[in-house]
Amino acid sequence: MTIGILKESKEGERRVALTPDVAKLLIKKGYEVLVEKGAGEGSFLSDDDYRQVGAQIESDKEVVCRCNFILKVNAPTIEEIGYMQNKACVISMLYGYTRPDILDALNEKSITSFGMDAIPRISRAQRMDALSSQANLAGYKSVIMGCDALGKIFPLLMTAAGTITPAKVLIFGAGVAGLQAIATAHRLGAIVEVTDVRPETKEQVESLGGKFLQVESEAKIETEGGYAKEVSIEFLQKQQQLIETKIKEADLVITTALVIGKKSPVLITEKMVNSMKKGSVIVDMAVEWGGNCELSEMNKTKVHHGVTIIGEANLPSLLPVNASQLYAINISTLLMHLSTSTGLNLDMEEEITKGCLITMDGATVHEFTNKILTASGIK
Ligand code: NAI
Repeated sequence: MTIGILKESKEGERRVALTPDVAKLLIKKGYEVLVEKGAGEGSFLSDDDYRQVGAQIESDKEVVCRCNFILKVNAPTIEEIGYMQNKACVISMLYGYTRPDILDALNEKSITSFGMDAIPRISRAQRMDALSSQANLAGYKSVIMGCDALGKIFPLLMTAAGTITPAKVLIFGAGVAGLQAIATAHRLGAIVEVTDVRPETKEQVESLGGKFLQVESEAKIETEGGYAKEVSIEFLQKQQQLIETKIKEADLVITTALVIGKKSPVLITEKMVNSMKKGSVIVDMAVEWGGNCELSEMNKTKVHHGVTIIGEANLPSLLPVNASQLYAINISTLLMHLSTSTGLNLDMEEEITKGCLITMDGATVHEFTNKILTASGIK
């Protein structure tokens, strides 16, 4: 079986699906690896690095697309799917429920596809969990970017000329990205306050040095597989009242609130931005899903009322060395879970396989994807 590694075609993408050290492991297990020329460049990995571990380099994208297995970071484009063989296999981030056109193209060729974004968050699948590995890095980078855009330092500084008080960082959402942001901001010396709808995150927040802002509400928050399900209007209103006072004092606000499969909840309104201190910064990590701040724009940094609003949608790509390194482990672990060097070897009742199998034999078979597509009237 030959694995094809494409050079990512998404604008600004610097990650690569497989690094040479992980390619070496797969080659040892009997897989052949074909890498598109320059695929690793964005992550400072040369074609020679891949050649040295036994991979072949191919300059023609079309040829790489004809491999039995295609491993990618981002979903394959329609053009790439056009080059693929019938009944080939693709593993990548897919977010299939947002791209029915891609699902149709995969189904037309009976391509078996697995979504890295759909791997269940269970302990057995931790080594494959690319959403977590990438969000972890992104949480770190959000603090570094916010800190860089801020005209002041994070830590307390006592000098002969006076005392500088520590910066205040307010974080929305204490999931994977939020927890890393808390740890990073705390390490840099900031005072960190955090809000999340899941009360069980309080302990984790406090263990990382953050202060948990408790929303007093009768509303029960339902969670599923570590994700928050939709939150009641009453809860969001109470949360907003609490945040309105906190946001006025914040220097840096990082938003990571996510309700899976839904548009991100708007937690920072224009009125709240107007109430913030001039020179303060918002990093809206949820911008790709509609944003937690009403004013953020995808891949844009803008200044509104003296507040800098950063809407970088691909933070992991700004740390391509680590992001590719972790993603390569995630994807190769899944590949070995799903196949042997002679082909796919699927146990259709097994939770990880069932959880991330999106298309097969010409149909979209993923329950959650079908549910969202049906709810949005596409299916
Ligand atoms: P996660 O699911 O682990 O965490 C999201 C957290 O938001 C959960 O703890 C949830 O309870 C909380 N939440 C939901 N509604 C909330 C509300 N109304 N108020 C406060 N908290 C609320 O997700 P993860 O992996 O940490 O990702 C967070 C966000 O960052 C997602 O939108 C994800 O797509 C995005 N992301 C963005 C990247 C970028 O480059 N901009 C890179 C990686 C992730």
